[in-house]
Amino acid sequence: MAKRAETIYLKDYTAPAFWVDSVDLHFELGEEQTRVASRLALRRRPDSPSGALVLDGDKLELEQILLDGRPLAANEYLLDDESLTVLAVPESFVLETTVVIRPQDNTALEGLYRSGNIFCTQCEAEGFRKITYFFDRPDVMSRFTTTIVADKQSYPVLLSNGNCIDRQDLGDGRHSATWQDPFAKPCYLFALVSGDLGCVEDRFTTCSGREVALEIYVEKHNLDKCAHAMHALKKAMRWDEETYGLEYDLDIYMIVAVDDFNMGAMENKGLNIFNSKYVLARPETATDADFQAIEGVIAHEYFHNWTGNRVTCRDWFQLSLKEGLTVFRDQHFSSDQVSRAVKRIEDVCVLRTHQFAEDTGPLAHAVRPEHYQEINNFYTVTVYNKGAELVRMLQTILGPDTFIRGVRRYLQHHDGQAATVEDFLMALREAGNLDLQQFQRWYSQAGTPQVSITSQYLAAEQALEITFEQFCPATPGQANKQPLHIPCKIGMLDTGGQPLTLQLSGDEAGTGTEEMVLHLRQDKETLRFINLPEPPVLSLFRQFSAPIRFVGEESSQTLAFLLKHDSDSFNRWDAGQRLAERIILNGANQSSRETAANDLDLLAASFASILQDDSLDKGLAAKLLELPNELYLALQMQEVDVEGIHTGREQVRKHLAVNLRELFRAVFNASQSTGDYSVEPEAVGRRSLKNRCLWYLDALDTEESSQLVADSYRSATNMTDRIAALMLSVDNSGALGQELLGDFYRRAENDPLVLDKWFAVQARSSKPETLASIKNLLSHSSYQPQNPNRVRALIGTFSRANPLRFHVSDGSGYALLAEQIIALDPVNPQLAGYLAGGFSAWRRYDEGRRKAMQQQLQRIVSLPKLSRDLSEVVTKMLE
Ligand code: TRP
Ligand code: ZN
Repeated sequence: MAKRAETIYLKDYTAPAFWVDSVDLHFELGEEQTRVASRLALRRRPDSPSGALVLDGDKLELEQILLDGRPLAANEYLLDDESLTVLAVPESFVLETTVVIRPQDNTALEGLYRSGNIFCTQCEAEGFRKITYFFDRPDVMSRFTTTIVADKQSYPVLLSNGNCIDRQDLGDGRHSATWQDPFAKPCYLFALVSGDLGCVEDRFTTCSGREVALEIYVEKHNLDKCAHAMHALKKAMRWDEETYGLEYDLDIYMIVAVDDFNMGAMENKGLNIFNSKYVLARPETATDADFQAIEGVIAHEYFHNWTGNRVTCRDWFQLSLKEGLTVFRDQHFSSDQVSRAVKRIEDVCVLRTHQFAEDTGPLAHAVRPEHYQEINNFYTVTVYNKGAELVRMLQTILGPDTFIRGVRRYLQHHDGQAATVEDFLMALREAGNLDLQQFQRWYSQAGTPQVSITSQYLAAEQALEITFEQFCPATPGQANKQPLHIPCKIGMLDTGGQPLTLQLSGDEAGTGTEEMVLHLRQDKETLRFINLPEPPVLSLFRQFSAPIRFVGEESSQTLAFLLKHDSDSFNRWDAGQRLAERIILNGANQSSRETAANDLDLLAASFASILQDDSLDKGLAAKLLELPNELYLALQMQEVDVEGIHTGREQVRKHLAVNLRELFRAVFNASQSTGDYSVEPEAVGRRSLKNRCLWYLDALDTEESSQLVADSYRSATNMTDRIAALMLSVDNSGALGQELLGDFYRRAENDPLVLDKWFAVQARSSKPETLASIKNLLSHSSYQPQNPNRVRALIGTFSRANPLRFHVSDGSGYALLAEQIIALDPVNPQLAGYLAGGFSAWRRYDEGRRKAMQQQLQRIVSLPKLSRDLSEVVTKMLE
């Protein structure tokens, strides 16, 4: 049989040839062999050509095959590593197959596998074909009934999607459970879990008064770490009712936490499976960021019940249809729970650091890509986070109420269907009665648009002319770009920092607002604002109203002014970031040292007033005092100066610490936690401000500062404070770091999530010994190369979050990453492909580093056997 094509194209989409009306699955779970019997009721679609039946199946061992009850002869079907072909089939028939699989050997964590003693599944995107023969594509939706048979003692819990309709004791030490999912779904939403698990139970009454059982399944020793997740689930359920009018649709909602998982979590219908990192938390084991991530991921998977499950994707090119929309929804939910300003800053920070980086490299792709080799490689920040920004722009363009109406219209019109991005935009367009033709380009055009602004104040006319020019750099396969519809939220300040009323020339009716949305649609356009007796200060792209790179003309004084006065908290923060970036990057450059020094005084003065402003939200203050991270700074340089960025940033940190030490000390003291640990925004903000101050004070590098870090660690009553101090101590010279690491390891007490932190802290260290210590850690008894969280903690953190040591000039960091990728590829290709992304910026470095990275990529590519995941990524990087 022909192998699947190397590259899959969106334009080649064809509808499936058959419907699968029902699927009956029967699993016999065993330590050695697991037997999967399937019974499919198939019907040829009237408009589809007659021909063979071809089902996906990845390296399955077929034991039996029956068509309408009759065993097929060997010449009636074909088998290969990827598919089963039945040569002649009637219009409507029942196909029964039995296959044998070995979950205990499945280290790729796709399909049915074991995590510890738990049987679990991961079917998105194409894992179901590793379980049984089926149409493994999202536009084939069927009703599933699943029976699980397993040893009663080892596997007391037997779960699948939907409602449990039968339980049996089989008398031979085994038992069974049968589950029925009343909703038709694509097979990527299928799930099965079995093991010796404890369960936390709760209830939720929906807006229409239905009772839903909520169950979180974890290993029994983790039962005390589920309260936060359960609380988050109930909040998310209520929020979706109140915000979108969306109600849960089954009688039971289950969440299972497993330690071995390739991603964050999975929205299987009625039975979510989670990486335990996004479920388990107690104040002593999880940081504030972990608590918030749990809330966000729980909500994300819950929201998929509508955006993803009830309405799913026609094909995997539409991935952002469910992911971008669902990330948008979880971000919106989280911003309703925490400090809205801080949440927006964090979300933009992820986008500008990671998604913008993706856009500048060889793996750049559109939110809706037009081709792929391995879909696993497209679960990216572009599809997820830029996708969410596109939805956010749609909300800005339509207004919040029309937007919600549009989303509801989309869900109503396509309930039970597999939809496309066009369907979504059509529903929004109809709700808002406006043209989204040009907007649609955002989905197909890759790259970060750049918007340059120049303005001219015309004193005689009391007017300001602003010229916007947009330009999008070329990306692989897309040399020429077309202008986009870019919403720009704008405000203006007078010289006293007060908001001005905006009036566009020619729009005399639209007076009276202090903020408005401009719709930029051309390569270059000029807008004229009137009734401005003095030159205003511009505040553009408020709340980061579009995912663009904005090039302004502001002086450093203006940036400092905005940092102090802008009523838009995002732009306040951004002004500070731009000022700090200017200083750090100029400081690395001899000729602009002097301007850098002046700007530094300006920044110090601004920070002083932030530290003295008691009325400011503490979480926001902590953000305003944050220096841009090294990865973000690297993106701003033509050729990355690894050491220059690090030392430049450290110098600014130290300068601020020396000049503002009294203030940092006072705010540090004033921000000590009082009372019990709480994850309320106020308490979280207080801790983040306190630890930001500690970060500066630590830069003083004195007896006293090191004592302060040690005391902070020892007196910590929660993981947030403890890890903040540990991180600082590990970066410092002296023996404290080693001592605290030892203490931290003992406290971890075999808690895998805490051990991950212990590995990650060492992988992130800026000390020169880091590479050597990582090599030692690779053979540490707690290092588990089969566990994705552990690999990401050590190798992921090193290659993605420690640019200074990963890019050490002799190339040894690169060699280490390549070796780990090569070792991992046969074990877990999805993870290997992800790790290879650590090389994607290789062309942006100096010649020595460039060559060293290229050499490692070539070494990988020349291996005799590469997974499709890894080969696609590495080949694209070398192209
Ligand atoms: N749909 C999941 C989410 O975003 C993503 C996911 C979980 C996934 N596990 C996966 C994607 C494994 C590919 C492979 O919520
Ligand atoms: Zn998702």
